[in-house]
Amino acid sequence: MLIKGSLGYLFSVILVKYITNLFDGGRFGFVFVLQLFSIPSARVNQQMKSKANIKGHPLHPILVCFPIAFFIGALIFDVLALLNDQNFNQTAVYMVIAGLVGGLAAAIPGLIDFIFTVPPNSTGKKRAAKHGLINFGVILVFSASLFFRLQMQPVPKLLIVGLEVIGVILLTFAGWMGGTLVYSNQIGVDHRYAGAAKWKEEYLKATNGRVEFANTSGLEINQMRLLHVDGKRIVVARTETGWAAFSDHCTHRGGSLAGGALVCRAVQCPWHGSHFDVTIGDVIAGPAKEKIIVYPMEEENGKLYIKI
Ligand code: FES
Repeated sequence: MLIKGSLGYLFSVILVKYITNLFDGGRFGFVFVLQLFSIPSARVNQQMKSKANIKGHPLHPILVCFPIAFFIGALIFDVLALLNDQNFNQTAVYMVIAGLVGGLAAAIPGLIDFIFTVPPNSTGKKRAAKHGLINFGVILVFSASLFFRLQMQPVPKLLIVGLEVIGVILLTFAGWMGGTLVYSNQIGVDHRYAGAAKWKEEYLKATNGRVEFANTSGLEINQMRLLHVDGKRIVVARTETGWAAFSDHCTHRGGSLAGGALVCRAVQCPWHGSHFDVTIGDVIAGPAKEKIIVYPMEEENGKLYIKI
């Protein structure tokens, strides 16, 4: 069972990675994966919003309830079996199996959000990686408890309870990190679900060191749009004095500036509140100390270009 659980998890990781790399650096693969996990009408182009969702509701937090409940339930029933030696053992077996199935199911949308929603090169990305690895550890520990339970006679109850205690402690750590990812890093949070233009993302290609930004419609003053240009994440902002383009990467800990607020040419990072001047990149207020990268924009024959 241990081997089967590990193989199942690895298989899901490889499957998602394979699909997402099929086309164009993952862009179309990403849409394909979304179609597997989202209903067709789900909007797929919104920054920080979970990319694996049903009608905007992220799937990962819905599904994690099942392994949490089943694994903790298994520990409780195994402790009761240890104390009372009644038929609680069999209930615990079912709960561990249900927890493993639920855990693997929850891992898939979690992995999609890890790849496509968490900003790259950020503390959120590192935290999300640790969160996933610890949860993988939980799956391994409960798989081991099931393996020993099914293979050894008499059932080593103390060993099983010990393993499950370790699993629940790991689960608590992982849950804590998951909470931080949502409540602090705002992963999967769509706090302006009003169809504002700033949430629409575009995938563009640069030619001769510049990229045309044609789709200016719907972008009002103090709104931003995230562009993916040849692997770079660039935010285009409309200010009172004109257009500005800058890196999506906050120089403090990598928060996504496209998910922040723009007022009077200053963008505020949603993670710890650093402010940057979007026209020159300077830090207006910390904790960030380094300026952000800004990209020159130019107009030619009525068209708007960003110089990369
Ligand atoms: S990541 Fe800390 S202020 Fe942006």
